[in-house]
Amino acid sequence: MNLEQTLSTPYFIINENQLIENLEKAKTLKMLSGAKLLLALKCFSTFGTFETIKPYLDGTTSSGSYEVKLGHETFGGETHAYSVGYSKQDIEDIKGLSNKIIFNSRSQLNAHYEACKNQASLGLRINPERSIAIQNLADPSRPFSRLGVKKNLLDLSVLDKVDGFMFHMNCENKDVNTFIELLDHISDTFAMYLDKLSWLSLGGGIFFTYPDYPIKKLANALKTFSIKHNIQLYLEPGEAIITRTTDLVVSVIDIVENIKKIAIVDSATEAHRLDTLIYDEPAFVRGSSSGGKYSYIIGSCSCLAGDQFCEAQFTSPLNIGQKLHIMDSGGYTMVKLNWFNGLKMPSIYFKHSNGKIDQLNKFSYDDFKASLGR
Ligand SMILES: Cc1ncc(COP(=O)(O)O)c(C=O)c1O
Repeated sequence: MNLEQTLSTPYFIINENQLIENLEKAKTLKMLSGAKLLLALKCFSTFGTFETIKPYLDGTTSSGSYEVKLGHETFGGETHAYSVGYSKQDIEDIKGLSNKIIFNSRSQLNAHYEACKNQASLGLRINPERSIAIQNLADPSRPFSRLGVKKNLLDLSVLDKVDGFMFHMNCENKDVNTFIELLDHISDTFAMYLDKLSWLSLGGGIFFTYPDYPIKKLANALKTFSIKHNIQLYLEPGEAIITRTTDLVVSVIDIVENIKKIAIVDSATEAHRLDTLIYDEPAFVRGSSSGGKYSYIIGSCSCLAGDQFCEAQFTSPLNIGQKLHIMDSGGYTMVKLNWFNGLKMPSIYFKHSNGKIDQLNKFSYDDFKASLGR
């Protein structure tokens, strides 16, 4: 029996080989485009893997003050700070740690300008009023969006205070052509600013590690843009770096039947894989196949009636105690874990290229209790 088979569920296991495969693509993109790449900590912050990631990326970007601190402490390189809203205390906490501080509105920029102007290069998030996002909930350009400043609220005086802009307008965009259309739109609409700025971040959501994604085409478009406006580009990938690297491993606890067979596992989307629930996007179980004649709902151990991972077909019946690997569970999972229902929190393991498995974290009843009071 190998070590992996002896691990107690639930747990996440991150595969270094897969991670390196994604990172090699990131390296190619950087080399061909001249863009700098920052890991979006909101997607993945499991710092026990950062020694593997650091040689490939330029630093981190964040969405809250604790992420800034974590990026600075555990990753290094360039630390970009962005938040939808900074309090005075947040600014005190981050200003010595950040290379760039990006504000979400002109009022935030004005409120914190004096405190930050000599500490970091400052930027402003712009809402390009166009986006590629499959779901309205994740669409930064949705009606009444609070994310970024629209063009009608900009004027050249903003350049007295900022050196850069940030746009984030893609979500799991696998189509290079639609990205290039967005880039052209930005180039045309904001040229008068871009030509005077020194840096521009194009955010995350570009799925350049998706199989057969035309990295060269993306790189050429970025390079052309960067030369045209004489500007340093940044990308902020999260999911593209961590995709297909991680399984959430669970055990079948019970099998019940209500018209369909339901395998109940020792985990819950609401607690351990929240985006399955939020975006109603079913997970995939390794080894399941659409042709299999044994069909199950993979149901969660939480009390929420609709909490299920997916429906899956198998070539043989599932057994109680059997482990199931819920695939592609690295992005937006470990950063969103919660203790709902007092379920056991998954441990986190890192499987190195040489086969060695490190336990990066484990949780106990004491952690659950401490999260509720002392
Ligand atoms: C500003 C910003 N940058 C980067 C990202 C990372 O996006 P992804 O994980 O899709 O690459 C996000 C995701 O919401 C974001 O809001």
